[in-house]
Amino acid sequence: MNRPANQTPAAKSPGPGHLFCDAGRHRPQCGPVFQPRFPVIIRSYAPSDEAQVIALWRTSGLVYPQNDPTKDIARKLKVDPEWFLVGEEDGRVVGTVMVGYEGHRGWVNYLAVEPTQRRSGRGRALMAAAEDILRAEGCPKINLQVRTGNADALAFYQHLGFQTDDVISLGKRLETD
Ligand SMILES: CC(C)(COP(=O)(O)OP(=O)(O)OC[C@H]1O[C@@H](n2cnc3c(N)ncnc32)[C@H](O)[C@@H]1OP(=O)(O)O)[C@@H](O)C(=O)NCCC(=O)NCCS
Repeated sequence: MNRPANQTPAAKSPGPGHLFCDAGRHRPQCGPVFQPRFPVIIRSYAPSDEAQVIALWRTSGLVYPQNDPTKDIARKLKVDPEWFLVGEEDGRVVGTVMVGYEGHRGWVNYLAVEPTQRRSGRGRALMAAAEDILRAEGCPKINLQVRTGNADALAFYQHLGFQTDDVISLGKRLETD
């Protein structure tokens, strides 16, 4: 992806250790937030996260036979890798979100929060971090796909202001996992 010469990938990342999220505020805060309800650090993915990330995706029902999670991670590491975010808490990965932008629409994939930590603001915090990245890029709209039957995710996104678009989502496989 082309970038201005003075814009490094790292400049677009929230950066490890610098983004704490406070469920009470519902927005990621840059810099430490004192006494947060959950001191999540939202940072870019690191290779050492792989096993925890894949385990989280499996328990979250995001791994399908046609999608090899290891290959999906490797692909993302080739394209805006700093936009592959994880939520870390007490040294553990408790959430993920993969962000993309091709110059027309922003995309969000692999949003997940550890099952025991759900319904307390972490998903919203991850989405806010994704949205911040895309706004900073000048992205006008976020698209995302929800699998048919995933009523919880649908309710979550609608709660965050997403609306169902009048489109049919099409796909064509270019590589078999
Ligand atoms: C979708 C998911 C990431 C939401 O994470 P979460 O941490 O539970 O979400 P939050 O607690 O931040 O919820 C944000 C808001 O959405 C609401 N919400 C969350 N799940 C909801 C649901 N199933 N039904 C209705 N509202 C819901 C919350 O009440 C909260 O509202 P508030 O901020 O006004 O209090 C989580 O359920 C998950 O990991 N699901 C499995 C993986 C998945 O399906 N991912 C999406 C793939 S498309």
